[in-house]
Amino acid sequence: MRTFTDRAYAKLNLTLDVLRRRPDGYHDMKMVMASCGLFDQLTLQLETAQPWSVSCASGAAPLGADNLCWKAADRFLRETDYRCDGLKIVLDKKIPMGAGTAGGSSDAAAVLRMLNRAYGAPFTTPELADFSAAIGSDVPYCVLGGTQLAEGRGEQLSRLSPLPEMQFLLCKPRFSISTPELFHAIDTEAAVYHPDTAAMLRAVSHGDAEQIAACLGNAFEPLAKRRFPVVSRILETMRLGGAMGAAMTGTGSCLFGVFAEQAACARCAELLKQEFPDTYVVAPINTMEEPAEL
Ligand code: C5P
Repeated sequence: MRTFTDRAYAKLNLTLDVLRRRPDGYHDMKMVMASCGLFDQLTLQLETAQPWSVSCASGAAPLGADNLCWKAADRFLRETDYRCDGLKIVLDKKIPMGAGTAGGSSDAAAVLRMLNRAYGAPFTTPELADFSAAIGSDVPYCVLGGTQLAEGRGEQLSRLSPLPEMQFLLCKPRFSISTPELFHAIDTEAAVYHPDTAAMLRAVSHGDAEQIAACLGNAFEPLAKRRFPVVSRILETMRLGGAMGAAMTGTGSCLFGVFAEQAACARCAELLKQEFPDTYVVAPINTMEEPAEL
């Protein structure tokens, strides 16, 4: 039996723009994505001589063949024709679910990276990212990680400069927002908000934390604010607490603020945590480690 472990980092949208609905039902997007230091720890065992299993240390993730990790392993093994007599995946989940932080996609990407390592790298990393688009629109980004411009349905990626030093304060209210439902809702919006992606790209290339914070924006945010007033309240708490900028990530419901100052960030986190237990302070992650064999 062989055992591997890998971190699956959460994703934040520095910007998210919805350009158009496509004939295939997906939407063309333009997004600036970043990895942050909130992660799920995954363990993968191969050749267990037992039926496949995907389990969660906390028992909270949807398990079985519907789980994106299972789908990722199944696709990898079918595609490569490798034989594996039993496979066990254990997730130690820290990334909140239904948050717009790509937790499930990042777990799937970690499974692909570990399998690729286990079988002697049949795919290069860009090939693995290409292949992974069939599992979910955010999976290719999660395979590569770091700061990326994502286009198409999210699978066309261009690497951007690493983020400068900054603190992210993440806060997820209790409710979750359904991704397909929010995409559907934006199709009926009379006027869709478009963040200034070009300005964000300039800010990232200059490594200017203040400008990055000033350019945060998400096309879904006005819809989420209308439905859930607490979204505005949390964003306002972050700004009043010293955030240089604050926005929603993905289709929510996680909100995040960008802070320059650690002390202000920690104080604001303490305040939000009293009401919202899913509150975290993390730094950007610019490079992904390779999965390890135990
Ligand atoms: O690709 P994924 O399975 O993660 O997408 C989930 C759902 O989100 C899709 O079925 C679609 O409704 C919506 N979606 C979209 N446009 C995208 C990505 C996702 O409409 N670019």
